[in-house]
Amino acid sequence: MDNSKKEVILSGIRPTGRLHYGNYFGALRHFINLQEQGQVCYYFIADYHALTTISEREDFYRQTLEMLRTYVACGLDPNKSVIYRQSDLPCTAELTLLLGMITNIGFLERGTTYKDKMNKLVEDNDLEGNPLSYGLLGYPVLMAADILIVRADKVPVGDDQRQHVEMAIDIAQRFNYRFGETLKVPAAVSREALRLPGLDGAAKMGKTEHNTLDLLDDPQSVLKKIKGVQTTTDPLPLDTDSNDPDVIIPRMPTSLGVLYRLLSLLAPEDVYLDFLSKYRRGEKFYGTLKTTLAKYVSEFNAPIIERYNEPGNNDEFIISFLRENAKKVTPVALETVETCRQAMGIGHSIYRA
Ligand code: TYM
Repeated sequence: MDNSKKEVILSGIRPTGRLHYGNYFGALRHFINLQEQGQVCYYFIADYHALTTISEREDFYRQTLEMLRTYVACGLDPNKSVIYRQSDLPCTAELTLLLGMITNIGFLERGTTYKDKMNKLVEDNDLEGNPLSYGLLGYPVLMAADILIVRADKVPVGDDQRQHVEMAIDIAQRFNYRFGETLKVPAAVSREALRLPGLDGAAKMGKTEHNTLDLLDDPQSVLKKIKGVQTTTDPLPLDTDSNDPDVIIPRMPTSLGVLYRLLSLLAPEDVYLDFLSKYRRGEKFYGTLKTTLAKYVSEFNAPIIERYNEPGNNDEFIISFLRENAKKVTPVALETVETCRQAMGIGHSIYRA
């Protein structure tokens, strides 16, 4: 591909535990596609961001390495993509500080993650001293710094991160307005971005919600988890001839919706359509739906588990490519920070010169 036509892609995932199907279909599969298209890809593990929720200090570093092993097992290639740890690029923290100077508190208080946590405290009458951290309020500024520091054109994320990317766009535009065209403004998140529901029927599959199907789940756990999905609800009339999962699934009870969404992502189209016509006819078929889906999920997981366990995919390998890739992203990032310092009037860093 002609280098001038290449796009700069950036995205990250917090090391909160094992990767789940929401992470994969919302984000990772796009990471891999873009990598294979030959774009300039920066993918990182957001360990600074995870500090807003992490409580198990001992597990933190281990979880970070395990997530990276899973990245590799899924097909991310440290020779094709620059894969690094957020904290190995500490100038991100400097850019966060600079961006923080032009970001209003009121703007950050409208962030849904912060707002939801705040509402929960109000509901529980637990607001004394406002126990929410400065880090949580500033989460979108750190995320903007991640994106803007490599001059990303595109940020592949799931639908739940849409608002954060919009906030990054807003912060970049505000910076450019105040200090002149300095930062690259990334594109908005694509309209097709996915939000995979949880196995418990909640609107979102998420680690903290304990409702995930994981890429490293073995066939037994897959079957157990899928069998546990509630299907006692009667099907709702679909009122449409469309077979498009985006049209159909919101019309189903949510726990059935997650099964159909997964089927549409993993099974051949005729299998998905066959189960859809059973649904339309109101047949009792949930037992076979679940065992069929469990089979496809386990088949999908098998090669990932195999590559995860390959002897070469070990800590030594991970640490060596992290070192190499941190060296690749650092000059790009430092250049952005220096440009911002100049634009804001601080001037170049003397010790870096
Ligand atoms: P995180 O770690 O919560 O999730 C990582 C990626 O997985 C996607 N995702 C989902 N997509 C669809 N359905 C779901 N149920 C689902 N659950 C998770 C997320 O949308 C995300 O793309 N703040 C980010 C990490 C981050 C980041 C960044 C991302 C930090 N800096 C800069 C992009 C650019 C986060 O917490 O993702």
